[in-house]
Amino acid sequence: MKVEPLTPVIGAEVSGVDLTALSEAEFDWLHELFVLHSVLFFRDQPRLEPAAQVAFARRFGPLHAHPAAPTLEGHPEVFVIHAHAESKVANGNGWHTDVSCDAEPPLATMLQLHELPPSGGDTLFACMYAAFETLSASMQEWLMTLGAHHESEHIYRGRYADRGVDDSTRTYPRALHPIVRTHPQSRRQALYVNPSFTTRIEGLSPQESNAVLQMLFEHQQRAEFQVRFRWTPNAVAIWDNRCTQHFALWDYWPETRKGHRVTVKGEAPYLDPQPPVQKRMRLSRTL
Ligand code: SIN
Repeated sequence: MKVEPLTPVIGAEVSGVDLTALSEAEFDWLHELFVLHSVLFFRDQPRLEPAAQVAFARRFGPLHAHPAAPTLEGHPEVFVIHAHAESKVANGNGWHTDVSCDAEPPLATMLQLHELPPSGGDTLFACMYAAFETLSASMQEWLMTLGAHHESEHIYRGRYADRGVDDSTRTYPRALHPIVRTHPQSRRQALYVNPSFTTRIEGLSPQESNAVLQMLFEHQQRAEFQVRFRWTPNAVAIWDNRCTQHFALWDYWPETRKGHRVTVKGEAPYLDPQPPVQKRMRLSRTL
């Protein structure tokens, strides 16, 4: 197994691993890498059967049910990512953290892409630990006292009508989360607002809230917090939604990009105001 960190703050490519046949010890090691690097990429994978992808994702915990997206027939845990010449929208084409509007947003997302455009269709990931840690101490302290509303009606209503979803009677989730959240394993603090779902800061006037959110959205998109993944057929990415954001670039229209996404359920975000015990986790074991 080979691990190649891609930037100093986020992302590592892992090779020489069969995701469908990991021993307990190998999975624990992979999980530590996941917590350490926040997003892992695997290129040398066969096309995973839906059941195999679901089984692997389940090793991270119970799976999350998406509030809006249609699923693969016979596999309700699999969300089909598919953009093509007739698409009016493409999933993930803007900075976001998956389904942060849920009271218990997803912990992790695993995506395998099977069909790629000849060029383009990269996914960008950004490190929200770095975004928080590079704010001034005064700003950090203030943000730690605040919560923000995350909503989804404006994103999901009618979104999947072209795939036969009638959502006229559905209600979409909304939640109030701390602006800074503590990662339960790394113990680091991460900035937890994103321009897709976060609509306003609790307790501020609309003008104040817009100004602060705009500043945070611009700050968290700095290039030095990012890694950009150039997909190859059947590559797999697994990202930690508790400390990252991502942006799936739709720069390839009218070409097709297709794959399967499975998402792991998370817990309600919380803030532990104690300083993190470790600034940066270290791997405690090697195989
Ligand atoms: C997503 O936001 O889940 C989609 C990511 C991608 O298609 O690269």
